[in-house]
Amino acid sequence: MSQSLLELRNVSMSFGGMRVNDDISFSIGKGERVALIGPNGAGKTTLVNVISGDLTPSQGTVHLAGVDVTALPISDRVDAGLIRTFQITRLFKSLTVAQNVALAVMQRKGLTRNMFSSPIDRPDVRLEWERALGTLGIAHLADRQVSQLAYGQQRLLDLAMSYG
Ligand SMILES: Nc1ncnc2c1ncn2[C@@H]1O[C@H](COP(=O)(O)OP(=O)(O)OP(=O)(O)O)[C@@H](O)[C@H]1O
Ligand SMILES: [Mg+2]
Repeated sequence: MSQSLLELRNVSMSFGGMRVNDDISFSIGKGERVALIGPNGAGKTTLVNVISGDLTPSQGTVHLAGVDVTALPISDRVDAGLIRTFQITRLFKSLTVAQNVALAVMQRKGLTRNMFSSPIDRPDVRLEWERALGTLGIAHLADRQVSQLAYGQQRLLDLAMSYG
């Protein structure tokens, strides 16, 4: 059996006396896609906050690739490969897909723009945006302007920009 990438063991989260997440356990393996659904106030965002590290669960543990990260801050979980995106994407609509990812890479690496060269052509940056787009399966959209993408493609771009 392949190792689980994300595993929750008996996670509960309470606010005051109100138990919002109650004894939740599940495991997600490589290549699996899981949707978390429920009515307003069911506790979905709370559970995602527990997974990301925005909240510490009242009980239970969160594991990434077999490592207990329950006590680790958000930044350490990101370093371990956990990515969170939000419903509202913040893409530069007038730029291309590659330019958007290149800017995200530059920001992550703390690089500043050079007036005389395009960020997408810097060899170290190019390596990363090509890898990110390839991983998300949207390399063929590199030169497409974001405003021309379908919504699903914009979500993939959002993931590509968080990737790395
Ligand atoms: N920081 C908090 N302090 C107190 N109560 C909270 C807090 N965060 C969430 N809650 C309560 O926990 C319950 C679950 O909220 P949560 O936002 O997780 O639900 P949700 O499933 O994401 O809902 P929606 O579909 O509306 O986004 C709600 O009753 C909410 O009021
Ligand atoms: Mg919510």
